[in-house]
Amino acid sequence: MSTPFTGPEFSVTHDPAAPADALVVGVFSGDAGITVDAGVPEAARGPIAAALAVVGAKGKAGEAVRVPAPAGAGLGAATVLGVGLGAAPADGDRVTAETVRRAAGVAGRALDGVATAVTTLSTLDLAATVEGAYLGSYRFAEFRNTSAPKEAPLGALALVTTAGSEAVSEEARDTVEQARRTAAAVALARDFVNTPPNVLSPVEFADRAQRLGAEAGLQVEVFDEKYLADNGYGGIVGVGQGSSRPPRLVRLRRVSGVDGAKHVALVGKGITFDTGGISIKPAAGMEQMTSDMGGAAAVIATVILAAQLNLGVDVTATVPMAENMPSDTAQRPGDVLTQYPGAGKGGITVEVINTDAEGRLILADAMVRACEDGPDYLIDTATLTGAQMVALGTRTPGVMGTDDFRDRVAALSQAEGENGWAMPFPEELRADLNSRVADLANVSPNRWGGMLTAGVYLKEFVADGVQWAHIDVAGPAFNTGAPWGYIGKGGTGVPVRTMLAVLRDIAQRG
Ligand code: BES
Ligand code: ZN
Ligand code: MN
Repeated sequence: MSTPFTGPEFSVTHDPAAPADALVVGVFSGDAGITVDAGVPEAARGPIAAALAVVGAKGKAGEAVRVPAPAGAGLGAATVLGVGLGAAPADGDRVTAETVRRAAGVAGRALDGVATAVTTLSTLDLAATVEGAYLGSYRFAEFRNTSAPKEAPLGALALVTTAGSEAVSEEARDTVEQARRTAAAVALARDFVNTPPNVLSPVEFADRAQRLGAEAGLQVEVFDEKYLADNGYGGIVGVGQGSSRPPRLVRLRRVSGVDGAKHVALVGKGITFDTGGISIKPAAGMEQMTSDMGGAAAVIATVILAAQLNLGVDVTATVPMAENMPSDTAQRPGDVLTQYPGAGKGGITVEVINTDAEGRLILADAMVRACEDGPDYLIDTATLTGAQMVALGTRTPGVMGTDDFRDRVAALSQAEGENGWAMPFPEELRADLNSRVADLANVSPNRWGGMLTAGVYLKEFVADGVQWAHIDVAGPAFNTGAPWGYIGKGGTGVPVRTMLAVLRDIAQRG
């Protein structure tokens, strides 16, 4: 049986020549050949660059080249791993955090079987190195018996810092600890997504969220199918009724204790498996719908992280969980349900034209409930539409919402390297959601702009005065392609770091 992944053990050092199995250095490309980062002792830079060049290192992003440590260079490691950083920044410019994070991720993936490493990447960006190395070495082996990885992931990583004094080193250790917790939260979201759908039912998901939330000191409430039916959560009940495994609504609350703290509501789509329901999906690729709770996973990880980092902001996560299955108890195309009639914009009736547009049905209930608390901000995130990938590809979340907050979230997501992109709500889309019999239809007869249409649907449920951002991560939450940077196959943990950046920004600037 595999042990759960906890990341490498991190330490801070002033000595790039500290004894270790491997030294990890950054490699820049340049017209006059490659160069290594300035954290490497000057006498060793030339010999290392020469050794890497001999075996073809170009310094390109994504590249990892390993060579024996040049003799006589005074290094404490037997081998040197050079990871590409791309073109050296112009004088005075710094390499971006995301460049460092990705390079550290490449290193993390390349260091399986290595017990101890020391790196100078941390002299470029300490937090990004920690996050990248942790997430790059991430693995999910819980369900491997006979095919378990033979080599352990990187065991320990010493981070070179040029910070001189004791006090600065203390600050460095704090930076490392915050980055480690951030990466661990991303890994938690990945674990949830990677846990197969037979194991992670709505009840199991709610139990795990409850346990982890309580451990982090959050106030936790779990509402069962009877409570949901009695209280009019028509969307969650309607989607969940096709499965023998009942739906849940989980609420996780962090109170900062800070006077005048802003209140941020988080909502995440928690479809533990999406068959499409009666409007069933084609078989090819359906297994990927194990990732349809990626929004919920990210939101749960983020509220726990907000508590661990003691952010000066109040956060309430409202997380609907259901399994979208076809059966004789499933909802039908043509059914009309009533979304949660909360104090805000609830009680809207919906004609379910396509049971595969289920995410918006469970989210709408949760968003109305979230708005009942009177939050300043509302962020919802969901693997909501295939159209997200048509519009933006697999790595770029679509960000919609109220204009100012949408732009703020997209800008912070860009800065974080998760690269969310602001998208509009063209006014003509709303009329396509008019229904023959109900207040709203859950899909449009027009397939163009499907990501935006889903956002327009959700907009109906956001209380007046609440600043709102909707993040569609249908592609970005789950990597079906080859590993890259600090992203492996499967769950990615996007958009945990975007939401963290937003919470930090709100704690600072309101
Ligand atoms: N969970 C899917 C969206 C999705 C697709 C996520 C691919 C990740 C990868 C969602 O519930 C869905 O089925 N959406 C439909 C909406 C349509 C019926 C309007 C879609 O995108 O086809
Ligand atoms: Zn779905
Ligand atoms: Mn669906």
